[in-house]
Amino acid sequence: MSLDKRARFAHLTVLLAEWQELWRPLPFTHRDIPWPAPFHALARRLLLLGDAECARLQAEPFIDSPLADWLPVSALAELVTLTEIPAGEAAGEREEGLPAAWSVHIGGRKWQQIVSFVPRVTLGPEQQLMEWCAGKGHLARTLARRHNVDVTALEWQAGLCDAGTRLAERQGAAVRLVRQDVMAEGAVEWLSSTTHVAALHACGDLHERLIELSAEHGSALTLAPCCYHRTVDERYRPLSCLGRQLAETHELVLEREDLAMAVQETVTAPRHVRQHREAANAWRLGFDALQRDVQGVDAYLPVPSLAYGQHTETFADFCRWASVQKGIDLPSRVDWCAYEQEGQRRQAEVTRLELVRQLFRRPLEIWLVLDRALRLEEAGFSVELGTFCPRKLTPRNLLLRASRC
Ligand SMILES: C[S@@+](CC[C@H](N)C(=O)[O-])C[C@H]1O[C@@H](n2cnc3c(N)ncnc32)[C@H](O)[C@@H]1O
Repeated sequence: MSLDKRARFAHLTVLLAEWQELWRPLPFTHRDIPWPAPFHALARRLLLLGDAECARLQAEPFIDSPLADWLPVSALAELVTLTEIPAGEAAGEREEGLPAAWSVHIGGRKWQQIVSFVPRVTLGPEQQLMEWCAGKGHLARTLARRHNVDVTALEWQAGLCDAGTRLAERQGAAVRLVRQDVMAEGAVEWLSSTTHVAALHACGDLHERLIELSAEHGSALTLAPCCYHRTVDERYRPLSCLGRQLAETHELVLEREDLAMAVQETVTAPRHVRQHREAANAWRLGFDALQRDVQGVDAYLPVPSLAYGQHTETFADFCRWASVQKGIDLPSRVDWCAYEQEGQRRQAEVTRLELVRQLFRRPLEIWLVLDRALRLEEAGFSVELGTFCPRKLTPRNLLLRASRC
């Protein structure tokens, strides 16, 4: 990476902190413009954007952005530079093909991610491989076959361990799936200075735990982090000393919902998934308008997600379901059509105002990964930050490779 990690991290902290009143508020939860008065003209400009231009800016937030008139040009240019993470640094080795037969029982996209990830795991002499939060151990099986070594895979769901064990036996892969809650005390037993842990898309607390244990025991890591917001803490406490120091100096405060922004990327989802999500959000916004009127309280009310596989046929059905969840008595007569249209109108507004957050999404993700890298460097590790695959395969394509110097 051409930019020094600490300089990049410090610079990102300044920009994220400086513009936090623009990117932290969630337009979804505000009926009015969620920004201070000096930015209201910016909001009005965004609200005038046509659908096509709005979609283009979602895909290319930094190109010909109307926000250039509002953020200093230097800030935009800096965001672009700071978010450029070349693949090369973590790559080390060239991509290699893996036998297609090894992909049996693995979803197409996951297999392509594994094909890109596996060459990045370079095993030192005397190191034992382990997969962290392994699911059915797809990565572990591929690593075992690729390196011709035994791999231990930790996973807490018994069903996944059983299924993974059967797959490994059937394919003759030397993988031992172990039922282990990695947050429990016993997880410590699996790590030592000769362990090399591979973790592909381990969520928030799960990969933070891995980093802390590795820092303590000197285990090497190849880690693609994911879902930073999946954490028990409401407020983010940087892992690195430098992160804590800079966040305090620049008054950068990150709540759990801010962390969720780092992994929100709709543009890589297939079109039908995006359309479905937009329609669902419009219903939620329509219900929000209704509940504000019914309760006489002009405040956003979060509604839980529908359970997997559950769906409601009409907007009115959705509102009845949501009102039961929130214990709200709906009047016997509701102008469903008006509230549904209000939801669609708000959805169009929210999409446009969200363009501002799009600019800061990748910078925030890189800031979080740098915080993890610096935590390990502060513990005496040598750390590389890079990408392991193109973003069209997964937007969560950042990779840390760390080993104690
Ligand atoms: C996002 S999946 C990643 C699975 C796999 N690495 C992959 O890329 O397909 C997370 C996995 O972590 C497991 N998991 C969640 N919490 C865990 C815990 N506390 N201890 C061990 N495994 C856990 C889940 O059951 C799931 O299989």
